[in-house]
Amino acid sequence: MKAKKPAGKSQIRTEIIGTGSYVPETRMTNKDLEGKIETTDAWIVERTGIRERRIASKDEAASDLAFQAARKALEAAQAAPEEIDLIVLATSTPDMFFPSTACIVQDKLKATRAAAFDLSAACSGFVYALAVGEQYIRSGTYQKVLVIGTEIMSRLINWTDRTTCVIFGDGAGAVLLAPSSSESGILSTHLHSDGSLWDLICVPGGGSAIPPSEKMLAEQLNTIKMKGNETFKVAVRSLEEVAWEALRANDFLPSDVSFLVPHQANLRIIRAVADRLQLPMERVVINLDRYGNTSAASIPLALDEAVREGRIKKGDMLLFLAFGGGLTWGASLVRW
Ligand code: UT7
Repeated sequence: MKAKKPAGKSQIRTEIIGTGSYVPETRMTNKDLEGKIETTDAWIVERTGIRERRIASKDEAASDLAFQAARKALEAAQAAPEEIDLIVLATSTPDMFFPSTACIVQDKLKATRAAAFDLSAACSGFVYALAVGEQYIRSGTYQKVLVIGTEIMSRLINWTDRTTCVIFGDGAGAVLLAPSSSESGILSTHLHSDGSLWDLICVPGGGSAIPPSEKMLAEQLNTIKMKGNETFKVAVRSLEEVAWEALRANDFLPSDVSFLVPHQANLRIIRAVADRLQLPMERVVINLDRYGNTSAASIPLALDEAVREGRIKKGDMLLFLAFGGGLTWGASLVRW
C-alpha cells in the first residue's frame, strides 16, 4: 500500500521502531582455537579483544538466523509480518546464489506483501541496507521496511589460517523502519566505497570469476583472504573521516553522541576511533568479546543488546560506524 505523497521529502523522518537479534547456541572460545591452530587466548584478546564467538550448526543457514532476529524485531515493534512492505537483507554469506536470502526470509516470516532483496557490502552491509531502507520511507513509498544483517562467517573460514579464523563469528540482527511521528529517527546516512582496494578482504573463489573446481577448493579460494594490517590502517582513517562527516552534516560535536555503535571488527580499531573522536569507552557499545566480527550483523546485534539492556534510552544520540570489504564504509546518526 502506498503512503500519501509527502508535502516535502525531508518532512518524513525514518524511525527504528523495533530491534531483534539472534546468535547460534554453540560457543567457540579462544581456548578451543588454541587446540586447533598455533595461537593463544592472550594473543587474540590483546590483538582483537575477542574472547569467544558463536558458530552456527550444520543445519542452520543465514536465513534461519535472520528469521529469528526479524521475528524479535517485529515482536518489539508490535508489528505483523503482513505489514512489511520491503525486506532489505545484507549478507556476504547468503543461503545460495539465488534466490536472495531476503526472499527466503520473507517466506519464513510469511511477510506476504513485501518486496525483498539482498544487498552486498560486506561488513558495512547493515549501514548500507539502513540507508537504502530509509530512502523508501523518506520518499513516502513504503511504511514498514525490515532491514536485516545476517552472517554465517564460519562457512567462509579457512580453519588453518590463524590470521582470519580467530576473528569471525556468526549471528544476525534486524531493525524495523517506519515513518517517525516524533523527533526520533535517522538524521543522516553517509556511504563510501573504494573499489581499488577490493583485494584487501575478499573470498576470491566460488563466484563467476573463479568458479568451483577441484583446484579452487585445493587452494581454499572459497575462504576469506585478508590483508589484516593494511585493512586496519584504512579502517581507522575511514571511520574517523565518516564520523566527522556525519557529525558536521548535523552540526554536532562528538560530545553530542550518547553512544557510538561501531562495527565490531577489532577492539583496537574501535578504541583508536573513539580516541580520535575523544569519546570515552563508556559511550561505546562493545560486544565483540562475546561474538567476534559478525560482519553485516554486528551493528544491529550490538544495538539490539544495548536497547534490551535498557542502556540506550529514548532521546539518545547514536552514531553507527561501519567498515568492510569492498572497501566500503559508512555512518548513520540516529536520534533514539
Ligand atoms: O570487518 C572487516 C574489516 N576487517 C578488519 O577490520 C580487520 C582489521 N585487521 C585486524 O583486525 C588485525 O590486523 C588482525 C587482528 C587481523 C591481526 O592483528 P595485527 O596486530 O595486525 O597482527 P599482524 O597481522 O601484524 O601479525 C603480527 C604477528 C605475526 O607474526 P610475525 O610475522 O610478527 O612473527 C602474525 O603471524 O602475529 C602473528 N599472528 C598471530 N599470532 C598468534 C597473526 N595471527 C595470529 C594468531 N595468533 N591468531
